[in-house]
Amino acid sequence: MKSLYLIGFMGSGKTSIAERLHQKLGWEVEDTDQLIEEWYQTTIPTIFKEKGELVFRQYETTVLLKTTRKNTIISTGGGIIEKESNREWLKEQGNVVFLSASWEEINQRLIHDQNRPIWNNQDRDKKKLLADRLPLYREIADIVVETDGKTEHEIAEEIMNRLFV
Ligand code: S3P
Repeated sequence: MKSLYLIGFMGSGKTSIAERLHQKLGWEVEDTDQLIEEWYQTTIPTIFKEKGELVFRQYETTVLLKTTRKNTIISTGGGIIEKESNREWLKEQGNVVFLSASWEEINQRLIHDQNRPIWNNQDRDKKKLLADRLPLYREIADIVVETDGKTEHEIAEEIMNRLFV
């Protein structure tokens, strides 16, 4: 079967839902941030610090195109939808699941986060970034799952029911 791509803003639960789906489907999980760190042998914060966001976005596209197309759950970075070419590519793959969380929920989840350069950049208006990105997530999503107030189990079940039944 075609792979399943999880998209959504930072802190929307992509990594934990990927793990849940792995338990249910038995498919391997790939994570674009992890692939970047493995492929380029460095960390995401270091890339942002030393090379900047533009280079990070190039790396992100490179690894996105290397993701496995079949029987794999792929968790993507929150900004993957910023590039039109990434959106086009994801749309072609299909099985794109948008995990939609509210600003309040995202804030709660990321309150202690120190690993996300954009989230931790005080000069960035993250609330506006979420609002700007929302239509882009929606544009390429095959299904949109509202995650507020739902358990990981419920979210994973909803994805399975809507995609595979
Ligand atoms: C980013 C989200 C991060 C990571 C990088 C940039 C973004 O991934 O790719 O820090 O632009 O929203 P998560 O969505 O997994 O936090």
